[in-house]
Order: sequence, then C-alpha cells, then structure tokens
Amino acid sequence: MSPLYAAITAVAGWVPEDKLTNHDLEKLVETSDEWITSRTGIKERRILKGENLGTSTLAINAVSALLEKKNLKGSEVDLVICATSTPDMGFISTANIVCEAINSNAMSFDISAACSGFVYGLEMASNFIKSGNYKKIVVVGADKMSSVMDYSDRNTCILFGDGAGAVLIEPNEEYGLIDAVMHSDGSGKDLLHVKRGSAYPISLEQLAEEEHYFYQDGKSVFKHAVTNMASAAESIMKRNELSSDDIAYLIPHQANLRIIDATAKRMGVGKDRVCINIEKYGNTTGATIPLCLWDFEKQFKKGDNLVFAAFGGGFTWGSIYLKWAYDSE
Ligand code: UT7
Repeated sequence: MSPLYAAITAVAGWVPEDKLTNHDLEKLVETSDEWITSRTGIKERRILKGENLGTSTLAINAVSALLEKKNLKGSEVDLVICATSTPDMGFISTANIVCEAINSNAMSFDISAACSGFVYGLEMASNFIKSGNYKKIVVVGADKMSSVMDYSDRNTCILFGDGAGAVLIEPNEEYGLIDAVMHSDGSGKDLLHVKRGSAYPISLEQLAEEEHYFYQDGKSVFKHAVTNMASAAESIMKRNELSSDDIAYLIPHQANLRIIDATAKRMGVGKDRVCINIEKYGNTTGATIPLCLWDFEKQFKKGDNLVFAAFGGGFTWGSIYLKWAYDSE
C-alpha cells in the first residue's frame, strides 16, 4: 500500500479592512516609516475593530471562505485545529467557536505554540490523516495581536497585526506533507510572552504595572530566530536530500524581513523563490504562513517542493517539507 500523505487541497485567508500604516504609528510612538521599513520590512498591518470581535471573527471568516471555495459544509469536516496565541477566552477553545459558526460538531481544539502554531498544527493534522480516521481536516492560524499590544511601546507595537489563514488537509497517495522537524525550548519564556493566565491572574497591580501586554526582548529573540529557523530548514533539506535548486518556494514565518533573508541565504534559496508579504500584514503570529499560502497560491504548481519554516515564543520552531498537491485554476 502506498503511504498516505496529508495534502493541502485548498487555502483561504481573511484580514480586516482597517489598516494601521507606519505613518499612523508615527503619531502614536516615537518612530518613523524609515526605521520600521529598514529594520523589519513592514509597511502596514490590519487591525480588527469592533466591540466583542476576537480571534474567532478572523478564523470564522477564513474558514468560511475555505469551505465555500471547496463547496463543503461544516458537517463534512472531521477535525478543526486552531493555532492561536490570542484565543477569544481563557477557555473555551477558539476552535469550538469556529465549529459552532460553521455548523460542525467535529472534534476541535486550539494549539498554543505562538508563531510556530501553524506548522505544529500541520504536523498534527498529518498524523491524524495517517491514522486513517480523519479525511477532512481544517487547520486555521488566527491571531488578533492588537488585543495584546501596548500602543505606547515602540519596541513591539510596530511589529504585529491581525489576520487568519486556513487550509484544508485531505489524504493523498502522491502529494502532501513529506517530513517535519519540530522543536521547543521553554527557557525562552522570559524573552517573549504575554503574562495572562493562571500564574498571572489579572489584578489591579498587574494592570497598573502594564504587565498584561505582550513583552519581547527583540534583540535576543532575533538571534534565536535566525539560528533556529535556518537550522530547522537546513535539517529538513539534509534529511530529505534536497538541494536548494530542488526547492520551488520557501514560505517563512513573517516576523522580520532580515530574519527571512538570513534563513533563505543559509538555505541557498534565491529571493525570487521566497514568499514574502510582511509589508502588508506585519507579524500575524499563527496566521503568517497560511496568509502567505493564500497570497502566493496561484504561483504554486502541482508537485512543487515547498519548505515552511517558523520560529516563535516558547521558544518553538520547526520546518515542514511538502509536495504541493494542485494547480490553481
Ligand atoms: O515572531 C516571533 C519572533 N519575533 C521575532 O522574530 C522578532 C525578533 N526581533 C526583531 O525583529 C528586532 O529585534 C526588532 C525589529 C524588534 C528590533 O530591531 P533591532 O534592529 O534589533 O533594534 P534594537 O532593538 O537593537 O534597537 C535599536 C535602536 C534602539 O535605540 P538605542 O538603544 O540604540 O538608542 C531602540 O530604542 O532602535 C530603537 N528603536 C526604535 N527606534 C524607532 C526600537 N524600536 C524603535 C522604533 N522606532 N519602533
């Protein structure tokens, strides 16, 4: 029997209409379009506005577009995995809320792996497919990063935006996820985190100290990101005997253009084969890779070797090698 691969068979994305440009940020903090563009590659990001709208709003829009594209009903989906670091609530899971919106009673859960959440989710979906018990899995990466940003902190608020991207995963005998390299290292927790949770219940003191916002030691995280994203991608190339010429496209997590460039350089992949959309959306955490797939889908051909690479809080990082399963019409 041929091995069963988990193939991406459709992609969709959704971003809010409201844009926060570098020039808008110049009015909020001491920064400049020139600084942000040259240090990060970001020009603008999308912000979800509206009362009681959360990550589920982003995810539901992306997943609904995905199902519509494939003419599928929610009831036909076997599993929904939502990669998010900004769930609507402490509990229940955002995936539960997505399922309610698409009329599905499928198993559903969130995974918390920061910016690596989507690649973690793909690796999990792949193993559910290999079990033979799941035929249609939705993996959605979604984050409303504006909900944890301090818009008076220029070190962080310039980096992030809101968005969601979703993929449908189905079994395939020829194409799909071939290999995955996944890692974590909890010693990174002091360098990148949002301290809201059971060890840090919301208190007046915490609010007064403004400790409930996203925190990052940018310089240190930058070094870890460059080292680990590139080494995960390199090890997937080595394990699968892939030369840089064998790779049709690199789809990297979009945190900083300089991290993307360093990763591509170490892999020997030319800029024309690197999918980049950081200028439009900034860092959308769990959503960067599926939003990139959404933006670049038309360029991918059936059988293309794609490599994904991500690094994020935790630390978490990983790389995926997959064979693209379809030509976009
Ligand atoms: O996705 C999760 C993983 N996250 C990442 O991968 C992000 C990793 N880190 C980064 O992308 C970069 O470290 C940043 C973009 C956050 C910062 O870039 P940098 O080149 O590392 O700058 P820096 O932190 O070393 O700051 C350089 C200078 C500092 O001034 P002094 O101390 O040299 O006088 C900062 O205060 O730039 C200053 N600065 C700014 N200036 C204008 C920091 N933020 C800003 C700003 N506008 N927004």
